[in-house]
Amino acid sequence: MLKINSIYNEDCMNGIKKIPTASVDLVIIDPPYQLNFSKRKNKDRDKLTSATCKIHEELIGVHLTEGYNYNLLDELVRVMKKINIYIWCNKSQLQMYFDYFVKNLECNFEILVWNKTNPLPTYHNTYLSDKEYCLYFKKKGYCNPQNYEDARTVFLSSTNIKDKRKYGHPTIKPLDFIRKIIRNSSKENDVILDCFIGSGTTAVACIYEKRNYIGFEINKNYYDIAIKRIKETKEENIKKHSKERSHEFE
Ligand SMILES: C[S@@+](CC[C@H](N)C(=O)[O-])C[C@H]1O[C@@H](n2cnc3c(N)ncnc32)[C@H](O)[C@@H]1O
Repeated sequence: MLKINSIYNEDCMNGIKKIPTASVDLVIIDPPYQLNFSKRKNKDRDKLTSATCKIHEELIGVHLTEGYNYNLLDELVRVMKKINIYIWCNKSQLQMYFDYFVKNLECNFEILVWNKTNPLPTYHNTYLSDKEYCLYFKKKGYCNPQNYEDARTVFLSSTNIKDKRKYGHPTIKPLDFIRKIIRNSSKENDVILDCFIGSGTTAVACIYEKRNYIGFEINKNYYDIAIKRIKETKEENIKKHSKERSHEFE
């Protein structure tokens, strides 16, 4: 049996089977995108800048270009109390997610965008790679932003090179963005599932926003990074609250 406020070093396809039906309030997933550049011909690869190549090679090296098993979606629908899910994706996956959630399951949707202010300057026959999509699907789900900033659908920030270096994960997502979607689509003490927890961003956001989390990470190195980050966040939180309490008595 799995425990809440824990993450597990295992394939989410196995782990999710241990989660009871209709037990999760919100799902946030950031699966590996399916990217085709590993199959590009050398001629095409030569056109890429060396910086782009370096990023691509880094992602290929840690198996972050191979996509995931879409059968997971059926399991996610099973474990959610109501459909209430955020999914990071690239443009080639948009059609598939809309078919699954909107056409077949008749969900409402919203398209959120992380707009990166400093993308690599590669625009040979194409636009800049300056955004990532975070799709939101709900069916009787909960979306209730409490202020103007939280209600914005476009999140502007630079590519988080600092976080990538600090936590050693090449596709880490911005913590402030994850905290915002958690505030908007869940309540305190709700249970939030992330099947691809990476460096632990969703778990850390849950700790700050007083939600419960459960997560899976298949890569032992990233799992260890997430465990360390979660531990440090909890310690920092305890210190902050004990400081707040001591202020009350001054
Ligand atoms: C895009 S990253 C997530 C990054 C995360 N959002 C963060 O902010 O750190 C996807 C993660 O899923 C993991 N992963 C890939 N396939 C998996 C699977 N079947 N089960 C569990 N984790 C998986 C990868 O190792 C990777 O760390």
